[in-house]
Amino acid sequence: MTQYVAAIDQGTTSTRCMVFDHSGGVVAADQMEHRQIFPRAGWVEHDPEEVWGNTREVTARALAKADLTAGDIAAVGITNQRETTVVWERSTGRPVHNAIVWQDTRTDAICQELAGRGGGQERYQSTTGLPLATYFSGPKIRWILDEVSGARDRAEAGELLFGNMDTWLLWNATGGPNGGQHITDATNASRTLLMNLDTLSWDGDICAEMGIPTAMLPEIRSSSEEYGRVRERGVLSGVPIAGILGDQQAATFGQACLSVGEAKNTYGTGNFVLLNTGNDKVMSRNGLLTTVCYKIGDRRTVYALEGAIAITGALVQWLRDNLGLIASAPEVEDLARTVDDNGGCYFVPAFSGLFAPYWRSDARGVIAGLTRFVNKGHLARAVLEATAFQTREVIDAMNADSGVPLKSLKVDGGMVANELLMQFQADILGVPVIRPVVAETTALGSAYAAGLAVGFWSGEDDIRANWAKDKQWDPTMDEETREREYQNWKRAVTRTFDWVQ
Ligand code: G3P
Repeated sequence: MTQYVAAIDQGTTSTRCMVFDHSGGVVAADQMEHRQIFPRAGWVEHDPEEVWGNTREVTARALAKADLTAGDIAAVGITNQRETTVVWERSTGRPVHNAIVWQDTRTDAICQELAGRGGGQERYQSTTGLPLATYFSGPKIRWILDEVSGARDRAEAGELLFGNMDTWLLWNATGGPNGGQHITDATNASRTLLMNLDTLSWDGDICAEMGIPTAMLPEIRSSSEEYGRVRERGVLSGVPIAGILGDQQAATFGQACLSVGEAKNTYGTGNFVLLNTGNDKVMSRNGLLTTVCYKIGDRRTVYALEGAIAITGALVQWLRDNLGLIASAPEVEDLARTVDDNGGCYFVPAFSGLFAPYWRSDARGVIAGLTRFVNKGHLARAVLEATAFQTREVIDAMNADSGVPLKSLKVDGGMVANELLMQFQADILGVPVIRPVVAETTALGSAYAAGLAVGFWSGEDDIRANWAKDKQWDPTMDEETREREYQNWKRAVTRTFDWVQ
């Protein structure tokens, strides 16, 4: 009897496999981190082969933990860090370059050159929903084709393939050089700067302008359908892969934000707020992205407005790895609790420039308000508060775009275990913050997409029924303090601008 659905969650810092039962409960899980490669300031790479190897290993380990075999698994869903770009050889499966990660800023000159052709940063917004920014895949593909000797000619000849991590894993799992499926879903494709948001197809004009041969691009499919079966030998051999969602869209789905006006915030390496706008795509006037939220089989496309923040959890890691102020990420809460407040200190982590709502690639991080009074406890607090302040900025933009102020915020991801942060988040937003029982909504969302395609779950009502509240934080801060703190943050943000000339 196939009683379970598996999800592969290929994230920025780690890859995990989770197995879910029909109620959405976690049956087994395993996780492995991969190397973060920083060849230069502003550059971030991953080794795609390491990521594929880890994917196989965590899957084997997760199934072994619950004593499961392929026969127990109805379907597999894939969810992934979005935008991160892999180009590999069709005949061997060998990447021609490390994966260029979404946080990487090396394509700044390419983006500026394209913006300079007219229309500025909004040149492709009406077609793709996105500003021209280093964040997205298109300019990263262009960089690889420009820099790797012979790559453009080989791509034109059909010898090289492009994919985000979803496509890279699917292609390898379904046979690699021996018939691997070269497919992505509409949520991932909507992050490339190359897809038309209305037709869900590659835009030939933009691809031509960016110098990207369409022969190397994967086929765009829905987020919930059978793409192929696992062909490589391993624990999931023969199981259909039937769901693909970019990780933030997967979290939105897993959080059951299935109606217009529902929003979630995921606290990962970065933070990503997505607001379901239904079958209407809303173009932002306030620095947000318009993106595909999900497309279930042949049903109409559901769109979202997104506030993408590059650095939140990654700042805690930076405190751990680069400064050594804490030994493990959860310790940041203990350190922050050694003081009563931020001591006047604000930390704006513009490590990859600033994403929403600013889109400033010239920004770099600052710690503002330092005095001799400030100690490491204040710094830890400023690190946590940076996540909450950045979230407030994108929620303000969302309220302005939609005209309907958000009444509460569903949250998920690793940092929602941090009680101090969750209370401060509610305080600085002035609305309740709600955490579900299953905080791993990213993996769950892709499991739902896969399970819906094979009839394991019958429809969205199953997803709604499985969602349950774990805890709610209500605002306790007075209005005057809230606005003073927020204005101080905003002043600190202005200090990051114009750093890269
Ligand atoms: O757009 C980037 C995002 O998909 C990365 O998410 O959870 O790996 O930080 P995460």
